[in-house]
Amino acid sequence: MRATAPQHPSVNGKSLLRFLTCGSVDDGKSTLIGRLLYDTKLIFDDQLATLEKDSKKHGTTGEEIDFALLVDGLEAEREQGITIDVAYRFFTTDKRSFIVADTPGHEQYTRNMATGASNSDAAVILIDARKGVLTQTKRHSYICALLGIRHVVVAVNKIDLMGYSRQVFEHIVEDYRAFAAALGFASITPIPISARYGDNVTTRSASMDWYQGPTLLDWLEDIDVDTDLAAKPLRLPIQWVNRPNLDFRGFSGTIVSGAVRPGDKVVVASSAKESRVKRIVTFDGDLAEARAGEAVTLTLEDEIDIARGDVITLTTERPEVTDQFAAHVLWMADEAMLPERQYLMRIGCRYVPARITALKHKVDVNTLQHLAGKTLELNEIGFCNVSTATAVAIDPYVDNRDTGAFILIDRFTNATVGAGMIDFGLRRATNVHRQDLSVNKAARSRIKGHKPAVLWFTGLSGSGKSTIANIIEQKLNARGIHTYMLDGDNLRHGLNRDLGFTDADRVENIRRVGEVAKLFTDAGVVVLCSFISPFRAERRMVRELMAEGEFVEIFVDTPIEECMRRDPKGLYARAKEGKIKNFTGIDSPYEPPELAEITVHSHHTGAEAAATRILDYLEASGIV
Ligand code: ADX
Repeated sequence: MRATAPQHPSVNGKSLLRFLTCGSVDDGKSTLIGRLLYDTKLIFDDQLATLEKDSKKHGTTGEEIDFALLVDGLEAEREQGITIDVAYRFFTTDKRSFIVADTPGHEQYTRNMATGASNSDAAVILIDARKGVLTQTKRHSYICALLGIRHVVVAVNKIDLMGYSRQVFEHIVEDYRAFAAALGFASITPIPISARYGDNVTTRSASMDWYQGPTLLDWLEDIDVDTDLAAKPLRLPIQWVNRPNLDFRGFSGTIVSGAVRPGDKVVVASSAKESRVKRIVTFDGDLAEARAGEAVTLTLEDEIDIARGDVITLTTERPEVTDQFAAHVLWMADEAMLPERQYLMRIGCRYVPARITALKHKVDVNTLQHLAGKTLELNEIGFCNVSTATAVAIDPYVDNRDTGAFILIDRFTNATVGAGMIDFGLRRATNVHRQDLSVNKAARSRIKGHKPAVLWFTGLSGSGKSTIANIIEQKLNARGIHTYMLDGDNLRHGLNRDLGFTDADRVENIRRVGEVAKLFTDAGVVVLCSFISPFRAERRMVRELMAEGEFVEIFVDTPIEECMRRDPKGLYARAKEGKIKNFTGIDSPYEPPELAEITVHSHHTGAEAAATRILDYLEASGIV
């Protein structure tokens, strides 16, 4: 879930370390960062003057400088005394440059923290020496591990308040190691510090001669985080195909890992088409080699089809190509994740429709326990099976934080709703191939003498969907047209009898109906579907299953007052008494269509007239 392409990890010839600080509000996180910036002489005189002034106004340290104020940039945050977003700071020493991400610690900011962690190579986890390992210490550590951080410092802060006690420190470290063993960090380095007084931050403490390890800055300057992306397999996601004239066809993108040279044998991951690299073209001339982090244009020896979103790799270093995989998904939207709902996935430079087909379990981020669940709410993390509309090239996130990560996008609002870290591909479905059949839809349709279609009736319970659909089916039948009726109430006695009326069940209900309707159109039949189908996303999904012009959405737009007055099955009355839960229009939403082919107001015109209007439409559009 990186927000940007990885940069070459060096600045002015010095290596660059990106790290994250985590801890809860009063663990002293901001004070620590302020101290680091101050001690590395990055605060300029005018900033220092403001700081002294502000320390008196907002600070919590009396007459001393409150370093936290240096870091908590926003006025609003200062006044609340909490950090609410990811703040990135840059500082540099003789040995190395640093970008530090300061993220909020509260559980409701899990997504912010994950964003910071996804861009970081190391983490400094603060623990208040007076409090020891807390629930949030565990949560932050889990998120760091999940987001691919391999090296952590456990900074036991405020050790001055515990009399610089070795025993206190060792006890906390023991606690931390016991719990973190399961997280698989490559290294855990505990350091006793006082951010306020600077002990063991940039200079060795005079009060803790029992501590022999590095200062925090020593550690940050020396840690080898293995960011040598160039040594990994080549992954070049294609951002665009550059074709200024007929003689030149270049494939442009930023190399996310590995290296490539002219003459290398390369392959397009998803199509398995092979060629050799002819030239590596850049703005400053051709290259003899290009490495991770560089933006390049490749030309190839052969004319092969490559489109935006494809991944170029060496023939010897292929990623898995699959349309099903298991992943940890962090939900980032207020609206819950619903299994089987279609979202848009961005993976590398590719956009592909995708769904979460199964939520295997949720992870309680505080205890790391696995919990059963049907949906994911904001800031929840789940281990899921994911299915994409077409096969994509993937790597496990532990191997590659770019090709192993994806985001999910809401197809209506374009908002990012989830971020995923791929665990492994699921090969199961790749062994199931489509059977080629010789009699097809067109052949079946020919002997029927009419085209297939889906007449999709949507509207509230009691709006008159089934009544109108019934009239139409009679008329079509009388004209010798092959029809079939799929009705919500009826299907819920058979195919869908395992489903109720939660949002998740309604999504699955419509998914199944969509698949059945597709089979009927394939059989050449005009299929009438009568379902409340309250969600736009699922109606759109069914529409996209069908051929162009085949899906006719009919909105039976009867006001709820009228539906309640009719109340043909007495359900509204019972729902109002609270005897039926999740009743559409009462305590479950209905999203009216925006793009319906036909909207009828049968409560004004009557069902017959509505049916006639629909038939006129079917004739005019050549369906019957
Ligand atoms: S949908 O929302 O999943 O599309 P569907 O059309 O299959 O619903 O079924 C709706 C029918 O189930 C209604 O016409 C009504 O008779 C019945 N029903 C029972 N409980 C509910 C409920 N909680 N909400 C809506 N309809 C319900």
